Amino acid sequence: MIGADIQKAALLLRSEALVAIPTETVYGLAGNALSEKAVAEIFRVKNRPVFDPLIVHTDHFQKAKQFLKEVPDWANELAAHFMPGPLTLLLPKNGRISDLVTAGSDLVAIRVPNHPLTLQLLALLKFPLAAPSANPFGYISPTTAQHVADQLGEKIPYILDGGPCRVGVESTIVGFVEGKITVFRKGGVAIEELEKVVGAVAVQAHSSSNPLAPGMLKSHYAPRTPVVVGNLEELMKQHAAQLFGVISFSAFFDELPVGRQVVLSPSGDFAEAARNLFSGMRYLDGLGLDVILAELLPEKDLGRAINDRLRRASAE
Ligand code: TXA
Ligand code: MG
Repeated sequence: MIGADIQKAALLLRSEALVAIPTETVYGLAGNALSEKAVAEIFRVKNRPVFDPLIVHTDHFQKAKQFLKEVPDWANELAAHFMPGPLTLLLPKNGRISDLVTAGSDLVAIRVPNHPLTLQLLALLKFPLAAPSANPFGYISPTTAQHVADQLGEKIPYILDGGPCRVGVESTIVGFVEGKITVFRKGGVAIEELEKVVGAVAVQAHSSSNPLAPGMLKSHYAPRTPVVVGNLEELMKQHAAQLFGVISFSAFFDELPVGRQVVLSPSGDFAEAARNLFSGMRYLDGLGLDVILAELLPEKDLGRAINDRLRRASAE
């Protein structure tokens, strides 16, 4: 069931049931992070391997501190600038967060989502919410309540509808390794924005064999239709014999039917492109095409997070 009743969502969550929640990045599949039953149900419903840890959501960073061992200065500084917002911090946990949530790691991922409904919901609850993106494991993240209903509607009692997601790609995940503030997943806070606050950061994103971030598997965010990334003019020639769709940054192709092209942002705006990316991929995936051809954006700003998702969608 889809609705906008936060009291109903709170009741369900208090009884250890799951509720899909809106955030500014993507919809989450939420459960009481302190309940083994609810957390186990998240893994089951998503069909997610238990080695892939979950993000813990609160309405204030201050509230998350009761689950943390210590909070280094860099984390307080980033939290002050970007929370609530599309940033997740990997920090040393204390014993109140179970190993099931963190997949055995001593670090817990903390995020304060910037969505009015979900902030109100979190304020009503006495516990934080564990929430991965509300998609079956490996598929594209949902950016509308309907996306969630299409895939998980039968499996969860309630989807809290907060409208389409304003950012459209997942949060940027930041931790600390070998003395350096390190980005583990490129996301809604651009690296340039982080660097304005804390100076140069290291990047360890999109590696499939990164032991610090076991969930960052390369083949992820993938539609069922094969995706090929490259120069669109060339790709369209190479795939002329197939039924293909196209994802472009800003260019429209006159020779191609309108219904088979997704132009992420006609004006070349990164934020608009991010907002349209996952729904565009879903749309093309529903057409029964042989292949989806996509071009990369300039490797800066939110273009980096978008390119990361396109590359992963095209990974075998
Ligand atoms: O924008 C977002 O972050 C969304 C919304 C719902 O908040 N959530 C989201 O969750 O994208 P999920 O589960 O799809 O991706 C979270 C990633 C996982 O792949 C995992 O590798 C990483 O965060 N992660 C979570 N806890 C971690 C930990 N303790 N150590 C290392 N990586 C962790
Ligand atoms: Mg996910």
